[in-house]
Amino acid sequence: MRTLLLVSAAALAIAGCTRQESPSTNPESKPSAAVAAATSAPPAPEPEAKPEPEAKPEPEEKPAKEPARTPDVEYVPTPQPVVDKMLDMVKLKKTDVLYDLGCGDGRIVVTAAKKYGVKAFGYDIDPVRVAEAKANVKKNGVENLVTIEEADVFTLDLSPANVITVYLLPELNVRLIPQLEKLKPGSRVVSHDFDMAGVKPDKHIQFTPKDPGAREHDIYLFTTPLKKEKK
Ligand SMILES: C[S@@+](CC[C@H](N)C(=O)[O-])C[C@H]1O[C@@H](n2cnc3c(N)ncnc32)[C@H](O)[C@@H]1O
Repeated sequence: MRTLLLVSAAALAIAGCTRQESPSTNPESKPSAAVAAATSAPPAPEPEAKPEPEAKPEPEEKPAKEPARTPDVEYVPTPQPVVDKMLDMVKLKKTDVLYDLGCGDGRIVVTAAKKYGVKAFGYDIDPVRVAEAKANVKKNGVENLVTIEEADVFTLDLSPANVITVYLLPELNVRLIPQLEKLKPGSRVVSHDFDMAGVKPDKHIQFTPKDPGAREHDIYLFTTPLKKEKK
C-alpha cells in the first residue's frame, strides 16, 4: 500500500514538472512574460509511473523544435485590424525596410510586403513561430520581399532597418533602447500595447477594432533620434 502511494506521488510530481504551457493565440489577450518551462510545443504526454519511486528517468533527447532559450514573452498575435493601423501610422513607403522583432506567425511582415511592397524581415526566437511565419510568407507569395529568421532580437544589428515593429513587453521595449538608438535618424518604431519608459512617443492612439468582443489597443509611435525624457 505504502509503495503504491509513493508511486502515485512520484508520478504526479513528474507530471506537474513536465507539463508545458500552451501559447495564447487569442489576439484580444495581452502577452505576458513566457514562463521558464514554456515552449510552443504541445503539452507532452504524461510519463508513466516507474516501478520504483526512487528510479531516475532516463535523460530524454531534446525535442527538435525547442527555442534556444526561453522566449522573453509569450506568443500573442496582433489582430489584423491593429496590424493595419500600425502600418498606417508609420506611413510605409516602398523604399522602407521593416523589421518585426518577435514576428510570431509573420502577419506584420506579410502585410507590409503585400499591401505596401516593402522589404521586410521577421525575427523570432521560437522555431515553431519561425516555421509558421515562413509558411505564411509562402502562402501569400511574398518570398521575394520577406525574410524570416530564427534569432534573439537582443543580438540583432537593427541599423539596416528604418521601420521597427514590436509587440513585446514594456521592459523589453526599454531593453531595446541601445539598439534602437543606432537606427538612422527619421526611422520609425511602432509598438503595440506597450510604451517605452523614459522615451516620449511622437504619437499614442487607442484603437478598438470593429470585431465583436474586440478590446481597446494602444499603439505608440516613436521616431529617431528617440526623445528621451529628463529624469
Ligand atoms: C506577443 S508575440 C507578437 C507576435 C507578432 N509580432 C505580432 O504582433 O503578431 C511576441 C513574439 O516574440 C517572440 N520572442 C520572445 N522573446 C524573443 C526574443 N528574445 N527574440 C526573438 N523573439 C522573441 C515570441 O516567440 C513571440 O512570437
